Amino acid sequence: MYNNFGDIMNKKLKAVILDGYTENPGDISWETIENLVDLTVYPRTSPDEIIERGKDADILIVNKVAITRELLEDLPNLKFVATLATGYNQLDCDALKERGIPVSNIPAYSTNAVAQMVFAYILELINKVSEYTADVKSGTWTKCKDFCYWNSPLYELDGKTLGIIGFGKIGARVSQIATAFGMKVLCYTPSGKKEGFPNVEFTDINTVISSSDFISVHCPLTPDTAGLINKEFIDKMKKGSYIINTARGPVANEKDVAEALSNGSLAGYGTDVLSTEPPKSDNPLLTAPNCLITPHIAWAAYETRLRLMGILEENIKAYLDGTPINVVNN
Ligand code: NAI
Repeated sequence: MYNNFGDIMNKKLKAVILDGYTENPGDISWETIENLVDLTVYPRTSPDEIIERGKDADILIVNKVAITRELLEDLPNLKFVATLATGYNQLDCDALKERGIPVSNIPAYSTNAVAQMVFAYILELINKVSEYTADVKSGTWTKCKDFCYWNSPLYELDGKTLGIIGFGKIGARVSQIATAFGMKVLCYTPSGKKEGFPNVEFTDINTVISSSDFISVHCPLTPDTAGLINKEFIDKMKKGSYIINTARGPVANEKDVAEALSNGSLAGYGTDVLSTEPPKSDNPLLTAPNCLITPHIAWAAYETRLRLMGILEENIKAYLDGTPINVVNN
């Protein structure tokens, strides 16, 4: 027989992870979380399965599953929501706040991995390692009269200009790597720590757009940034320059980008993110020339996911101690 106090003191709270697969497809242990709560993990959960799986949960842990105001009626025990990501726009934070349910997110776990991916794109776009490898393996070098060959211009990064849009954690890290390559860095950002980056020239967005050889986007998706990379934006760029988007798919107008790639005004587009994920088969970027696409994996390095697990553990511990941290719906 438990009284309420005994329940709280002696029983672990019930926590349900509704979509745990992408954080942990099996190469990391959930043990640190199981030590804190009575844990059930589902790899994926469709909208019509949320209530059945979550109705007894004290804590819901979600990555992309949406928790709406309507659902809360049927989640009577819910006391805390923890995300498995930085973004939380799929959660109705106001409705959760009205019910006194804090939401904790995972800030800044993937900065290095995303910055690294930016340069994976830049290097592939101009050094074309995988393109030349395919060429060599198909026999082109074997048939060559010279000791080497190339069929497109090759460039050095040294002396080229990288334009960064959004100078938060990732934009700042990208600027440091660019500087190590000898690149000049221009940046437009409405906020962000500008001190301590003597090699970065902070300027207006039009100067960044018109003066850069490469533009890397590191702003959040907001009404201001949705569709930012469109025909008008690309028309202001130097002809034959490149855009890298590891931010969010809808920051780009994909039809305009595909057209610019087809007519050569844009030399290349490297993106980790698309407007719909997974993409629809008629997404114009899937067939656009000089378009590199990875399936939203910039964050997914093993070390990054381990770090995420550590922050999730801290978030749950802090909630259980009565002092939640990383709360985004204060
Ligand atoms: P952050 O919050 O540290 O920095 C965002 C920066 O964007 C801030 O400096 C802010 O002033 C700036 N910004 C806001 N509105 C802007 C606007 N209208 N124009 C230009 N800049 C604007 O975020 P962090 O950690 O650097 O991440 C950046 C973005 O990267 C995230 O919002 C997310 O969308 C994306 N991301 C993608 C990942 C992936 O796996 N592909 C993983 C992690 C983040």
